[in-house]
Amino acid sequence: MIPKETVPRHVAIIMDGNGRWAKKRFLPRLLGHKAGVKAIERTVRAADALGIQYVSLYAFSTENWKRPEKEVSGLMSIFRFVLRRKVDEMKRENVRLRFSGFRDGMPQDIVELMEWAEEETKGNSGLTLVPCLNYGGRQEILHAVEKLLEDGARPPLTEERFREYLYLPDLPDPDLIVRTSGESRLSNFWLWQSTYSELYFTDTLWPDFDGKELENAVKFFANRERRYGALK
Ligand code: IPE
Ligand code: IPE
Ligand code: MG
Repeated sequence: MIPKETVPRHVAIIMDGNGRWAKKRFLPRLLGHKAGVKAIERTVRAADALGIQYVSLYAFSTENWKRPEKEVSGLMSIFRFVLRRKVDEMKRENVRLRFSGFRDGMPQDIVELMEWAEEETKGNSGLTLVPCLNYGGRQEILHAVEKLLEDGARPPLTEERFREYLYLPDLPDPDLIVRTSGESRLSNFWLWQSTYSELYFTDTLWPDFDGKELENAVKFFANRERRYGALK
């Protein structure tokens, strides 16, 4: 059992390695993404049991549009399927859904499903799940700057004021960022918010990730000493 006070409040996950998982099995990449959905279900259940309050999931980056059209449209179909089929279950399990990312760049029907899912689950008081779709940290910062300029903001600018213009201003910064599949980079995830996040990398491919793996990440986090630039 992990003591409650050492559990991170917000865990952000870069779900990487679906393609390699499929390749190892001589399967099409899309089946790797489908297996990734199962890993999400396991992980969210485990996160809730551990007392994690926020889980954000990097599901589609602003750079992922560069992939072959077939893979992109396959991923969009998976998002549609999951939104249509899983929201009721999340509603029952007291999970609140909130999305991050640039919505205007997403297909309109998916945007509508996202809005519906947020509305359906807004009264839920349990874990908040934040799928990041068409998310890019640089784009988020640029959009914030654009809106600030539109609002006629003048210097000096504070961090607090700037934060109000992010996609989800009230979402706490990630305490822990997990990336699977042996890659150790952020790939444009949570650029503003990751300033003091602890970073955990595992070789496990995303479709193989489970509650035990999440526990290992949380144990790693429990042993960190966060100093925020000050002396301890
Ligand atoms: C992560 O898995 C999922 C998305 C980026 C949508 P990948 O598709 O990047 O899998 P690899 O890195 O090619 O193995
Ligand atoms: C990051 O994975 C994006 C998501 C997990 C959605 P990528 O596989 O796209 O990242 P790179 O290209 O290896 O940096
Ligand atoms: Mg990848």
